[in-house]
Amino acid sequence: MGPSGSRVAVRVAQAEDAAVLERIEAVSFDGDRLSRRSINHHLQSPTCDAFVAELAGRIVGYSMLFYRRNSRIARLYSIATVPEARGHGVAGALMAAGEKAAARRGADTLRLEVRVDNDAAIGLYHRLGYHDFGRHEDYYEDGQAALRLEKALSGSKVAAA
Ligand SMILES: CC(C)(COP(=O)(O)OP(=O)(O)OC[C@H]1O[C@@H](n2cnc3c(N)ncnc32)[C@H](O)[C@@H]1OP(=O)(O)O)[C@@H](O)C(=O)NCCC(=O)NCCS
Repeated sequence: MGPSGSRVAVRVAQAEDAAVLERIEAVSFDGDRLSRRSINHHLQSPTCDAFVAELAGRIVGYSMLFYRRNSRIARLYSIATVPEARGHGVAGALMAAGEKAAARRGADTLRLEVRVDNDAAIGLYHRLGYHDFGRHEDYYEDGQAALRLEKALSGSKVAAA
């Protein structure tokens, strides 16, 4: 439930949402931000699924997933909730929508990278069943390392085995 008792509603992002996504990037990340140009590109891409989450009719979060041809591994490329809407299940709802979309595309695994010092995001991913399987040193603009996390998607062969 949201701050005023309203539920989080997730929908597919449209090209018209690009400006809002750019603003969410600006208030959510100190570096490694997606440019408006990249956002526009990804929103048009057939190998990207993008979602926005609304609380009381206002977009407060977004996520993007990437796919590669001939791969059953989907990648969560970006997810963010505006600071004032955090802790109300917005990212959880976006993750659920992303996992469903990835499974529909035939993916059996969802992978992501996260800064090793991002306690909020790591806490969320662990709670949702993601586990650490690797690490990239010197991954972000400021030299910080990334943890690599993955989850077998339910409904997939791996999860059912
Ligand atoms: C990470 C982020 C997307 C979470 O968004 P959110 O909408 O607040 O997430 P939810 O409300 O769905 O879930 C919050 C969960 O985060 C975790 N969490 C939040 N703050 C935390 C903290 N300080 N330490 C550990 N876990 C924390 C908890 O698991 C919490 O679950 P709970 O509500 O059951 O306790 C948000 O903090 C954000 O946008 N951060 C900046 C951008 C970013 O770091 N994106 C991820 C890049 S990989």
